[in-house]
Amino acid sequence: MTTLACVVGARPNFVKMAALLDGLRRAAPQLSPLLVHTGQHYDEAMSARFFAQLGLPAPDVHLGVGSASHGAQTGRVLERYEAWLLSRRRRPAATLVVGDVNSTLACALASVKLGVPVIHLEAGLRSFDRTMPEEINRLLTDAIADLLLASEPSGVANLRREGRPESAIRLVGNVMIDALEAQLEAARALAQPRAFGLEPGAYVLWTVHRPANVDRPARLVALAEVLAAVARRLPVVLPAHPRTEKRLRDAGLWSRLERTAGLHLTPPLGYLEFLGLEAEAALVVTDSGGIQEETTVLGIPCLTLRSNTERPITVEEGTNTLVGDDDARLLELVGEVLAGRYKKGRRPQLWDGRAGPRAAREIRAFLGVPPA
Ligand code: UD1
Ligand code: UDP
Repeated sequence: MTTLACVVGARPNFVKMAALLDGLRRAAPQLSPLLVHTGQHYDEAMSARFFAQLGLPAPDVHLGVGSASHGAQTGRVLERYEAWLLSRRRRPAATLVVGDVNSTLACALASVKLGVPVIHLEAGLRSFDRTMPEEINRLLTDAIADLLLASEPSGVANLRREGRPESAIRLVGNVMIDALEAQLEAARALAQPRAFGLEPGAYVLWTVHRPANVDRPARLVALAEVLAAVARRLPVVLPAHPRTEKRLRDAGLWSRLERTAGLHLTPPLGYLEFLGLEAEAALVVTDSGGIQEETTVLGIPCLTLRSNTERPITVEEGTNTLVGDDDARLLELVGEVLAGRYKKGRRPQLWDGRAGPRAAREIRAFLGVPPA
């Protein structure tokens, strides 16, 4: 049996891996996945709930790294993943990493140095902003990966420009949309807007967790103000990432937001609950990578609190607009959405719910395993 070590660490990884494992079951059942959880995210609301809702199997190994500074966290994953690889009588045929979190880079590096090939799913995305920790993770992971599976054409173009060999690059589409398609009906059935006392189509869903927004005190204060301004026009639901809650509490803003009229502050939501709210929102405001993609497919307007995106197709073809920290522009666009004047967008090619099986076929071929 050919084994494939599949690495997850943080919330968006769980969504992508659920789709990929499903794709492997359907299109490459000869491969035997071993699920490795680094433990980068560990709260029930950031990890276990996703395993349960997305039907992920219990991890075969849990590295238990937890939170730390970038260097310490990346180093811990590197050391523990290497130790796990060395402890095995037979090494896996390859390590599969997804996305752009610290666990992605650390496991890719540990693996390649032991001669275990690396497969990167969601390769080639570039924000061209090296102050983003994820951009460094993306650049370095793609520089050492042996098979590069891209979700959109910009990823292919970036990898070519960086001189990665044509034979290693494949456009397979977006596995995050596979997960969305698989779960959307169940998510809608939860009637989440009503559970929050909201009318479908008449509220804003807001997420923010990037260091560039929440780790800068002046920006955080401005965000609290624009949140309150939007909440005066339309109810807002804000499921707060643990990083965001911590920063808001440290800045003394949390209790003020709890008292803000029209604002529903919640802990992070499960995948189904979140998707249920996202699918019925009037608009989404976010700095998440994955949510820019999900809103494009759902046809929900998305205002992104960043001045760049590594997912340009969501702006060029989808419903996404970059507003950066221009809060006046944000309020103006909220007005356009409410007036029905916002762009409609279309679904990008290969974001069709079948990216997982396409990725699985490429992985099987890369590993030299014949079709079933
Ligand atoms: C990480 C990823 C980011 C991704 C995000 C998804 C990196 C560099 N960043 O950011 O790309 O968009 O995950 O959600 O890998 N914490 C908890 N409980 C948890 C996890 C984290 O309380 O289960 C708190 C801790 O205080 C921790 C902080 O959140 O220090 C940040 O966690 P970390 O994993 O370092 O980065 P994220 O901001 O979650
Ligand atoms: N998500 C969720 N609950 C939340 C916020 C987000 O289930 O409270 C989902 C969202 O639908 C998407 C993924 O988490 O599938 C995105 O993860 P996140 O924004 O943490 O990371 P990023 O994509 O920015 O790396």
